[in-house]
Amino acid sequence: MSGTSLDGVDGVLTAFDGSLHAAHVPFLDDFRRTLLALQAPTDNEIHTEALAANELARHYAACVDALLDAAGLAAADIAAIGAHGQTIRHLPDQGLTRQINNPALLAELTGIAVVADFRSRDIAAGGQGAPLVPAFHQSAFGSPAAMRVVANIGGIANISVLRPDGTVLGYDTGPGNVLMDSWANTHLGKAFDANGNWAASGSVIPALLDALLGEPYLSQAAPKSTGRDLFNRRWLEHRLQPFERAAAADVQATLAAFTARSLADAIRRDAPQAEAVYVCGGGALNGHLMAELRALLNKPVADTGALGVAPLHVEALAFAWLAARFLDRLPGNLPSVTGAKGPRVLGALYPA
Ligand SMILES: Nc1ncnc2c1ncn2[C@@H]1O[C@H](COP(=O)(O)OP(=O)(O)OP(=O)(O)O)[C@@H](O)[C@H]1O
Ligand SMILES: [Mg+2]
Repeated sequence: MSGTSLDGVDGVLTAFDGSLHAAHVPFLDDFRRTLLALQAPTDNEIHTEALAANELARHYAACVDALLDAAGLAAADIAAIGAHGQTIRHLPDQGLTRQINNPALLAELTGIAVVADFRSRDIAAGGQGAPLVPAFHQSAFGSPAAMRVVANIGGIANISVLRPDGTVLGYDTGPGNVLMDSWANTHLGKAFDANGNWAASGSVIPALLDALLGEPYLSQAAPKSTGRDLFNRRWLEHRLQPFERAAAADVQATLAAFTARSLADAIRRDAPQAEAVYVCGGGALNGHLMAELRALLNKPVADTGALGVAPLHVEALAFAWLAARFLDRLPGNLPSVTGAKGPRVLGALYPA
């Protein structure tokens, strides 16, 4: 899995029996810049995209090698790799989602079958193509005894409301780390604000928070999904214009509050009866953000480690699970989440 944060590749190797090996392969600055540039129209993008897809496949292959080493296994022991690709456009209302990927090259480099292109079939069936993780969240974390919420805070944040009867509601709530990362990059020269300490040193600017919360996406009805197509630096700069004298740390505090508020508002609206909220994704490691969430929700907020899966492993495990669903020719989408006309087998196979 390589998500909207553009931080790198998260891989897991599992037999879905509780065994789990994990590896992370970071993107170096040059490659991250290339991927960032591909998020919006640029010169000669077809060529750049194809070369970036090859580079991405090499990162995925390095992650697979690390996992095989850690597990002491060989390529022949592995049923398949689920490879999501790197999203560079996500505009489902135009019938369009695009993940750059080269599954053919990944199959060549690893000698392992690759399942890829998980989103396009759901879009073809009239769905959002996202989020796809709620079906896995339900299978791994659902409880017949209580309603639970799983909140994934990656670049974008999404929730899965897991009801005791097994039905699921889920959608992207808005930004996760993407705006905070961008601001930290400009002002700290770092990929992210570790533990949210910089945000915690600032004070929320109420008028700016209100301006951010005025984004119409937040009150739009589900099914809905979003990405860097909406929540990008241009979106932020536009709203920052009246606040150009604001201290950078206060802006960061406000961005953290924005992520927390948009997430908490969604949970309060759609899952007021939930017994607890379980957070996964890199945002779970942001202590300041977790404290903001706790202050907004009058219910326990833990990370998914409390349910047995470390927060940084959940999304990669979800795509391994989706690949396994494909191999069994079982549906991977939830029409109640994506709005697709029906359940669909997601993905395409590149044999070993
Ligand atoms: N120690 C930390 N403190 C604060 N933030 C962190 C920390 N570790 C990771 N993060 C944040 O988590 C992000 C990476 O999270 P993650 O990999 O879940 O997102 P993603 O790649 O967008 O995934 P996806 O789109 O699949 O949800 C980083 O960009 C950073 O913002
Ligand atoms: Mg990531």
